[in-house]
Amino acid sequence: MDNEITLSFIAKSENEALARMVMSSFISAIDPTIEELSEFKTVISEAVTNAIVHGYEEDGVGKIEIHAERSGREIVVSIVDYGRGIQDVTQAREPLYTTKPEQERSGMGFTIMESFSDDVDIYSIPDRGTTVTITKKFVPIQESCRIV
Ligand SMILES: Nc1ncnc2c1ncn2[C@@H]1O[C@H](COP(=O)(O)OP(=O)(O)OP(=O)(O)O)[C@@H](O)[C@H]1O
Ligand SMILES: [Mg+2]
Repeated sequence: MDNEITLSFIAKSENEALARMVMSSFISAIDPTIEELSEFKTVISEAVTNAIVHGYEEDGVGKIEIHAERSGREIVVSIVDYGRGIQDVTQAREPLYTTKPEQERSGMGFTIMESFSDDVDIYSIPDRGTTVTITKKFVPIQESCRIV
């Protein structure tokens, strides 16, 4: 393992941008492609937004933690909340499934996370909280592109 961080913040929507920035900075040592960076930021954004909006209804009190580890060109990030939890994880993963259609949610968050990463693991206990663990492997840097 080459690096590790933990970030903790409360369930306020403005902290989604903070989480995205910190995590982009965390992977800068990997020198990701523009596409990889954009995918990674989207994944973080979707998971953190879920914790804020669904886990805690944006109550500004609930705690969210992000644990991130880097091993070579692989990143493993866990987004943890201690909020409402998910009753049926299999159903929650389905494209277009949302419990908040009135808030113009499209139910595509988990589908997006899956398509922009290598693995998405969801561990949730109703009324106890949710941990979403995302693994993303970044492509090796081409010799010809390396700045010397
Ligand atoms: N951290 C969480 N805590 C509680 N429920 C969650 C959490 N994350 C997801 N969910 C549940 O899983 C459902 C599906 O999540 P997903 O991100 O795929 O869609 P969405 O958030 O409803 O819509 P979108 O992400 O497209 O805005 C949510 O509607 C919610 O019921
Ligand atoms: Mg979502």
